[in-house]
Amino acid sequence: MARHLRSLRDLNADECARLLELAADIKAAPQKYASALAGKSIAMIFAKQSTRTRISFEVGIHQLGGQALALSTGGGTGMQMGRGETTHDTAKVLSRFVHGIVIRTFAQSQVEGLAEHGSVPVINALTDLYHPCQGLADLQTIREHFGDTRGRRLVYVGAGNNVAHSLMLAGPRAGMDVVVACPTELPPNAHVLLQAQADAAEYGTKVGVETDVERAVEGADVIYTDTWVSMGEEEEAKRLIQILRPYQVNEALMAKTGTKSIFMHCLPAHRNDEVTDAVMDGAQSVVFDQAENRLHAQKALLALLMEAAPWS
Ligand code: CP
Ligand code: NVA
Repeated sequence: MARHLRSLRDLNADECARLLELAADIKAAPQKYASALAGKSIAMIFAKQSTRTRISFEVGIHQLGGQALALSTGGGTGMQMGRGETTHDTAKVLSRFVHGIVIRTFAQSQVEGLAEHGSVPVINALTDLYHPCQGLADLQTIREHFGDTRGRRLVYVGAGNNVAHSLMLAGPRAGMDVVVACPTELPPNAHVLLQAQADAAEYGTKVGVETDVERAVEGADVIYTDTWVSMGEEEEAKRLIQILRPYQVNEALMAKTGTKSIFMHCLPAHRNDEVTDAVMDGAQSVVFDQAENRLHAQKALLALLMEAAPWS
């Protein structure tokens, strides 16, 4: 049976730790893994825009000796999926050609469907519900910065969205507490919160929601934010911006956090909306390390899922 990354629930804490070890080794000595995916092709389907995810997967697969096929769902060169070919049929067909599927799309059910009906590993490259590859690169970045993720407290400031959901699942797996500081109107998905809290109970950490952002960030090790308007929410932009305005990460908010705190953002950032220039470009910001680590963490993920590296 192929292994997948539909959400971070597909990895337990030990597997997560193994992936982070491997990602660190790949970052330090990439040449050791230059033929990990030799002779393998990976389909990358993008139904939403991307800079980091698409480029880091394409470059990463190349660096592992494999072939990356960047595919879209619209326009003259787009997949038939964009014209209604079912997930079921797409999964069956792709499984005859390629050794793995990376997909960025709207509905989480499409990722689940490809995994269910195909026979090759499926990687969620962002849906409306989750962004697990981002979560893995974020853990790598926190681990690099603090030496370990365990015992750290991450406060996500903003809407309870896909990035927040993946951080809520990443935290327990890495021994970190996670707080989502969000307006009452934009909470995280209730089902994901329950899952994350169940995982936190299992791994001995905490996941919570707080509406008082100033109280939430007190003493935090990591402050994390994301865009106020996610892909697919453009029509609601005005309302979202209005609700989220008090949740801007600025120097005054950073001053309330722990003395050695760092600032994180998955990017792309909307400067001077969710985060000010001063924080983005300040000494505590690790946003470009995060972007770089997308490459290393995803290479580790591919090597493990494609069975080019052992899980233990
Ligand atoms: N952080 C992230 O996924 O960026 P892209 O949308 O550019 O891929
Ligand atoms: N929440 C954002 C993340 C982009 C990487 C979105 O879904 O657009």
